[in-house]
Amino acid sequence: MSADQNHNLSSGPDGASDESIQKVHAELLTNKTEPAEGFKLMPLFLLGFVSTMIFVTSIYVVHYRAGFSPMVYDERFDPKTAAGSASKELTPEQVIAAGKKSYQQVCATCHQVNGMGVAGVYPPLVDSEWVTGNEERVVRVLLHGLNGNIEVHGKTYNGAMPAFGKVPGGGYNWNEEKISHVLTYIRQEWGNKAEPISKAKVAEVLAKEAARTKPWTAPELEPFK
Ligand code: HEC
Repeated sequence: MSADQNHNLSSGPDGASDESIQKVHAELLTNKTEPAEGFKLMPLFLLGFVSTMIFVTSIYVVHYRAGFSPMVYDERFDPKTAAGSASKELTPEQVIAAGKKSYQQVCATCHQVNGMGVAGVYPPLVDSEWVTGNEERVVRVLLHGLNGNIEVHGKTYNGAMPAFGKVPGGGYNWNEEKISHVLTYIRQEWGNKAEPISKAKVAEVLAKEAARTKPWTAPELEPFK
């Protein structure tokens, strides 16, 4: 008896023998659940849950995207006033900034960034009567252009200033607002001190000169001096 007990070293305190352990393992190996047909509740629930999340987040994005406007990242952004902000009047600083940008992109090619022009070829805009004088005249110069002899700072120029308005033969097709911005800029930069020119003024002059198709000459602009 005692020899038999010594032989069965692997019996545990509750009497589990090698044999019983093997039997349990065998049962575990054979009693596996068979793959079954049909649906499982959990994947169905997950599918529904994920679909709902996609649906809800889509609605959220559509609702709060604010037209994907970059303004939503502006801390001053206010959705109540955002709709009308595009047509809102610019502040004087914004007008100057817009005018400066257009000037440096286009006008500076000829009149230079410092507004001094190129001696004998492109007249200066700094301290020029054409720029700071009668607004009716300078608006006409911008809208339809200017050809033939003109005098600035006592020197004569004879070049071709292109037309910027949306006019027949106008190469640049700038709208009234853009023209008013650039004019306001050149009237207030480099020590020039003249009143701003409004978009309405540009539109008014354009309406008066609707029939014109060619650039102005200095004598033609005498009445607007
Ligand atoms: C392709 C060169 C060229 C570009 C670009 C150009 N101008 Fe001129 N501009 C001239 C020339 C040349 C004259 C003189 C025309 C003449 O001799 O009859 C002139 C004349 C003028 C005058 C009147 C004379 C004076 O010196 O005050 C003003 C004002 C003026 N330009 C403003 C502008 C503004 C503003 C822009 C940009 C929106 C611009 N110009 C773009 C060539 C240019």
